[in-house]
Amino acid sequence: MARKPVVLVTGASGEMGHSLIHRLAEAGAYDVLALDVRPFPPEVARRCAAVRVGDILDRHLLERLQSEFEIAVVFHLAALLSTRAEFVPETAHEVNVQGTLNLLRLALEEARSLGRRVKFLFPSSIAVYGLPDPAAKRRAGRVAEHEWTVPVTMYGCNKLYCEHLGRYVSRHYRQLAAQGEPSGVDFRAIRFPGLISAFTLPSGGTSDYASEMIHAAAVGQPYACFVREDTRIPFMAMPDAIEALLALLAAPADAVTALAYNVTGFNPSAGELAGLVRRAFPAARLTFAPDPRRQAIVDTWPEDVDDARARREWGFRPAYDLARAFNEYLLPNVTRRYAAR
Ligand code: SER
Repeated sequence: MARKPVVLVTGASGEMGHSLIHRLAEAGAYDVLALDVRPFPPEVARRCAAVRVGDILDRHLLERLQSEFEIAVVFHLAALLSTRAEFVPETAHEVNVQGTLNLLRLALEEARSLGRRVKFLFPSSIAVYGLPDPAAKRRAGRVAEHEWTVPVTMYGCNKLYCEHLGRYVSRHYRQLAAQGEPSGVDFRAIRFPGLISAFTLPSGGTSDYASEMIHAAAVGQPYACFVREDTRIPFMAMPDAIEALLALLAAPADAVTALAYNVTGFNPSAGELAGLVRRAFPAARLTFAPDPRRQAIVDTWPEDVDDARARREWGFRPAYDLARAFNEYLLPNVTRRYAAR
């Protein structure tokens, strides 16, 4: 009995999953098998060849998927984000690390059974960086991939370790085995900045304030931003994040020399972002009520990242700077979205 060839997307009901599946369906070139612990919104489910509700920690479930489907590409998006992970660090470790190991193992087995390389796309994060204090953050400016990788959150530690795990499986797996052979897993990771989508809200992250203030203003709800106005970290419009994943997927193996790449779109302060929101929605009830603990996390993230390597090696070019992201992507889409309710 033939297995059905698919692209596996974990965390498919989440913010990135939503947009990625939309984009893959648009491209028409892939049949998607979507996996998530949460039920699927109908607009996600109808774009997939198959959907499964289940846990990436359930090895039997993953084996059942392998019995039904031929998986040559994995987008492993499932994770507990940085704020949520701090309330349940051990669980976050299980989901973020053991979950990733389970998926890498699935990819290894698929590579073996298919006799060709399986591509494994992994969203890492600016949370892998950890600047010790605001002065160091200001001095550091644009941070390159090898700098300041001393994360302070469980999520950041998990993402950084999983980058290494991916590198190990990709390049050094079972290096002492008598019949040493390449694992067949082609692991590629992108360290995303805060992502802002016009269609969904993130859940459980610490960069969520940007999306939350825009969506709240569009719905007419008050919003108290949990970081100070002068807080600055990099962000990116969701469509650029998805295009980056697809560009890295398509890049020839010899062009990809690193295992984790920075990418970014723009890096407004929270106050600058609030200014744009107020201009677009003059009635917005937007205030600042910093939460010192979430603030402390964001203060360790760089104010900007250097994405020269992604640009050079696989042609990363974001389409949206801040003005375009706000005026051409966010504003029209969030306005339409909430007007239709
Ligand atoms: N957006 C993520 C978070 O805030 C960072 O990768 O946790």
